[in-house]
Amino acid sequence: MNVSIHHLAEWRKRGHKFVMVTAYDALTAQIADEAGIPLLLVGDSVANVLLGYPSTIQVSFEEMLHHAKAVARGSRDALLVGDLPWGSYQVSAEEAIRNASEYLRVGMHSVKLEGAGPGIDVVSALTQRGIPVMGHLGLTPQFVNAFGGYKVQGRGDAGDRLLDDALRLQDAGAFAVVLECVPSGLGRRVTEALEIATIGIGAGPHTDGQVLVMHDLLGLTPGPSARFVKRYADLRSDMSDALKMYAKEVAEGIYPAPEHGYK
Ligand code: KIV
Repeated sequence: MNVSIHHLAEWRKRGHKFVMVTAYDALTAQIADEAGIPLLLVGDSVANVLLGYPSTIQVSFEEMLHHAKAVARGSRDALLVGDLPWGSYQVSAEEAIRNASEYLRVGMHSVKLEGAGPGIDVVSALTQRGIPVMGHLGLTPQFVNAFGGYKVQGRGDAGDRLLDDALRLQDAGAFAVVLECVPSGLGRRVTEALEIATIGIGAGPHTDGQVLVMHDLLGLTPGPSARFVKRYADLRSDMSDALKMYAKEVAEGIYPAPEHGYK
């Protein structure tokens, strides 16, 4: 089944909780797609998760495009979301439209962008041109310098402002909103107030969907991780064990064995 933005509305209506995970390459996109993950996000978290940058702010649109192309080649059914990185949608609506169009051209089905302040006109400009937009509120990592660090957002009066922003995104035509690192009560409030789907990451159990960084849930990223991360595997130590075993077997003459050779 090819997942479309309309499935999210349907799932929300019938209370079906869904997931999104990040994917940055064809192989992991293929594995996630085969596992039935309905939404894949080519997240700008590729910056710190894979590319070794200190934050998401350093990754360029050209680099994101490289990963988006790979994910599009690897997936079959999932709805693909291309994350617009820092600087690719703030300068003008024209530039945002150009970059979002390029994402669609290489196989993304929608784009995601952070915040709803002055950028709300950009969201309208994109949706009016038929480009599906996912919003992202709360701890939006591209604004880490303005927040003064990675902290829970939306406590107290800030929760009311975040709810207003979510409603503005909905009015501007967004099809879903990611809520990152906000109190669970606020996750519930926003989900109840909106008609479009909410997708939480550290926003409690009441959002319509959940999203995690794939490398976090697989236990590949080094700890300690944020409180909201649940590790469903420990692939970092599995990989390390396998690599050590390979080196040991070569050193001891165990590998390659006769069956690994050619006659
Ligand atoms: O880039 C990313 O991985 C994200 C998710 C954390 C929502 O934006």
